[in-house]
Amino acid sequence: MEKNVGIIYGTETGNTEHIAGLIKQEWGPEQVEVHNVAGMELAIFEKFDILILGVPSWYDGQVQDDWDEMLEDLSSVDLKDRAVALYGLGDQQDWGLYFIDAVGALADKVLEGGAKLIGEWPVEGYDFIESQAINKNGNFYGLAIDEDWQSELSEGRVKKWVMQLKKELQDLQILEVA
Ligand SMILES: Cc1cc2nc3c(=O)[nH]c(=O)nc-3n(C[C@H](O)[C@H](O)[C@H](O)COP(=O)(O)O)c2cc1C
Repeated sequence: MEKNVGIIYGTETGNTEHIAGLIKQEWGPEQVEVHNVAGMELAIFEKFDILILGVPSWYDGQVQDDWDEMLEDLSSVDLKDRAVALYGLGDQQDWGLYFIDAVGALADKVLEGGAKLIGEWPVEGYDFIESQAINKNGNFYGLAIDEDWQSELSEGRVKKWVMQLKKELQDLQILEVA
């Protein structure tokens, strides 16, 4: 049986929403539902086998406002052993000290909840100074997207990441091998 995928994003200027659309297209739109986290009911988190959470960083690495409001409540969602992937929007040049920091905050939260975090992503190909979104392997916790300076790379990055996610989910036996 096909697994259902939920993409939940927050956004200020639409970039993270745009990338949600690309991920949905790439995955296969019929298996994916997209939700804006703003004012979203908590129950939505529980609807999906696989969650993809998209968050932009704002003002010195802070979690975008709508996600920030949701973070505390997220503790009451059962994420135990659930496959969760993160993607973050940021600006490596003007905000290079805080590049996609919000992904780190979300990663802490979902790992605390016992989720299986999938989709870590190499830091190569980005030019930033510091990031709170780097895991113990030296990779980003999830896909990094920079629409401000590298928008021409976004589609290719999404394509590659979705392929990687499907492979990881097959290895975890969450998705069947096609
Ligand atoms: C005032 C301002 C503050 C920002 N702060 C950060 C930041 O701390 N870290 C980062 O990586 N990007 C930062 N950015 C870049 C945004 O995250 C980036 O433009 C992103 O694509 C916005 O996504 P959204 O349209 O979904 O909100 C900032 C942008 C602005 C205009």
